[in-house]
Amino acid sequence: MTIPSMTLNDGHTLPAIGFGTYQLNGRQGADAVLTALEAGYRLLDTALNYENEVEVGEAVRRSGIAREDIMIASKLPGRFHGYEETLAGFEESRANLGVDYVDLFLIHWPLPRVGKYVDTWRAMIRLREEGLVRSIGVSNFTQEHLTRIIQESGVVPAVNQIELHPHFPQEAMRAFHAEHGIQTQSWTPLARQRSVLDDPVVTAAAAAHGVTPAQAVLRWHVQLGSIPLPKSASPARQAENLDVFGFTLTEEEVASISSLESGRLWDGDPDTNEEF
Ligand SMILES: NC(=O)c1ccc[n+]([C@@H]2O[C@H](COP(=O)([O-])OP(=O)(O)OC[C@H]3O[C@@H](n4cnc5c(N)ncnc54)[C@H](OP(=O)(O)O)[C@@H]3O)[C@@H](O)[C@H]2O)c1
Repeated sequence: MTIPSMTLNDGHTLPAIGFGTYQLNGRQGADAVLTALEAGYRLLDTALNYENEVEVGEAVRRSGIAREDIMIASKLPGRFHGYEETLAGFEESRANLGVDYVDLFLIHWPLPRVGKYVDTWRAMIRLREEGLVRSIGVSNFTQEHLTRIIQESGVVPAVNQIELHPHFPQEAMRAFHAEHGIQTQSWTPLARQRSVLDDPVVTAAAAAHGVTPAQAVLRWHVQLGSIPLPKSASPARQAENLDVFGFTLTEEEVASISSLESGRLWDGDPDTNEEF
């Protein structure tokens, strides 16, 4: 299966879909990441705070796939905000993963109350300049946070990974990203909820194309131009989720799925949510 690629503002590329690894821990977690690689995923999304970077690195080595053919993304948690702290936090991720470089490194949350995300961003730029990270980006940044780091550093993040699913289509953020050349990634793309996969709008679109509801939702992300990062522990669902490049939703179907907007899944407001 050929996965299309998306070109970032730094000239590097990412596959148009990636594999989410949150809650894939321990031996079963490593096995799940391995089956995802065998299914064809080439972008793995982890974070220091998922406590599974060791498992992700192990799966990459066990797969036998060349390191340069796999993109590993990880995220810096709040306890490492600050310039020197960011360099130290990155080294912890790199050691856990057992790699020479990380393909995409993101600031996990902006933590505006802590107020160190600009210094943190400057250290991310240094990591990229040193060749330790290929592309740098952020996660859960609002327009205000993005504007500030761009103005103060002159460097536009390659990626902003945000909550995005049919209950929270993030139209304004996607428009802002498009305007600034920032690639959107969707976290919790399936909304972790039956309310999306059972919705008649989604099941009707799926039936019209002979696909599953999850495939219709993931295709919706692709057509919005965002990179979805579905997680599944099941090899069958991993393969199902990857198989979304052989059909196209109509504009009406895309719009009707977007109309399921009801809000965030939980209180993950980037202005107030704090994770360290
Ligand atoms: N940056 C951030 O702050 C942030 C926050 C949250 C998440 N993330 C990233 O986003 C990734 C995805 O989010 P998520 O794991 O929370 O949620 P998700 O991918 O939207 O949903 C995962 C849930 O859906 C089920 N599922 C997967 N494929 C399915 C299918 N084809 N049919 C029916 N059910 C299916 C999974 O069950 P099974 O495993 O049993 O298949 C699991 O319960 C995470 O793993 C993580 O990498 C980032």
